[in-house]
Amino acid sequence: MIKGTGQVLIFLISIDFMKSVQISEYGSSDVIKIEENSPMPSPSTGKIQAKIIAAGVNPVDWKIREGHFREMMPLQFPATLGIDFSGVVEQIGEVNSDAPLDFKQGDEVYGQASISSGGSGAFAELALANKDSIADKPKSLSHLQAAGLPLVGVSAWQALVENIGLSKDQKILIHGGAGGIGSMAIQLAKHLGAYVGTTVSINDKQFVQELGADQIIDYKKENFEEIVHDYDAVFDTVGGETYKRSFRALAKGSGIIVSMLEQPNSELMSQYGIKAVFLFSQVNRQRLTKLAQWVDQNNIKVNIDKTFPLDEADKALDYQKDVHPRGKVVLTVAS
Ligand SMILES: NC(=O)c1ccc[n+]([C@@H]2O[C@H](COP(=O)([O-])OP(=O)(O)OC[C@H]3O[C@@H](n4cnc5c(N)ncnc54)[C@H](OP(=O)(O)O)[C@@H]3O)[C@@H](O)[C@H]2O)c1
Repeated sequence: MIKGTGQVLIFLISIDFMKSVQISEYGSSDVIKIEENSPMPSPSTGKIQAKIIAAGVNPVDWKIREGHFREMMPLQFPATLGIDFSGVVEQIGEVNSDAPLDFKQGDEVYGQASISSGGSGAFAELALANKDSIADKPKSLSHLQAAGLPLVGVSAWQALVENIGLSKDQKILIHGGAGGIGSMAIQLAKHLGAYVGTTVSINDKQFVQELGADQIIDYKKENFEEIVHDYDAVFDTVGGETYKRSFRALAKGSGIIVSMLEQPNSELMSQYGIKAVFLFSQVNRQRLTKLAQWVDQNNIKVNIDKTFPLDEADKALDYQKDVHPRGKVVLTVAS
């Protein structure tokens, strides 16, 4: 406040803050802090700032928190967590005429805002996202459902459509059919006309039956490789011994296994004459757009198992890690 000649001048400095979910070290859920005073991120060229309505939770979020990728992708602390989101475009960065943004303020979008994809972290009230990591939100889904779709939907799409080339009347075994990726993969495989076997816990039997699974195997009581033979493809979202045992379920000399967790095992590949692929999910605008069209045209469901408010991101990540959702866990951020 400056006092002049009978006048009072008041300088108001307006700094906008937002809430975000941050970590300043790797560890378990107690390293998560809700930061109320994070500066609002402002978009540079090729980026948008989105108001986050909902943010999807994936196993990779707690793996990042625990430092599983610290060598491959070291974080600069403090770091805002979160990858998947659905929301509304608030601001757009400078537009490069060679690479138009194709989005305007108010557009409903979904996709990724992770630090590793050039974003600022999706577990926040506002986030920056690279224009190539987002697309128009599927119209038939709520923001809650759309927030649960990007990573799991694109993973299923890359596996079944791009890697396996699954076609009508082929047989596919999907491990972890009740999980985020598995529940999308069952719906996609049925849409492609395949016969679908899946491994789940007994409690998830009805859920995957409603998604369209033809043969359901209780992985805690039954050995799938004694039930399933001569399948064309396996989609493995579990890894470990499940991956190794899967070679026995495939047609010798012609089958393919795509794994979200395991690098190709050359010994098993040559023993069984099977093609094996490790899938690294890459979410981009083209895949998100195709996914949204498929969802809208075919009444595809994203099952929300449980929602948590942004303030309870620590509990949401623990739930994802320890309880395993039937479908997806989503953080609600704004209405
Ligand atoms: N490579 C990549 O780029 C990439 C991308 C995305 C995800 N991933 C990885 O892919 C995996 C799956 O992701 P997600 O989002 O689908 O996870 P999720 O939602 O936690 O689902 C995992 C499912 O697997 C089931 N499961 C556990 N052990 C099983 C077994 N032995 N046999 C059959 N089912 C079993 C769980 O059921 P229960 O509740 O019965 O245990 C759960 O339904 C995660 O490890 C994730 O990190 C990798």
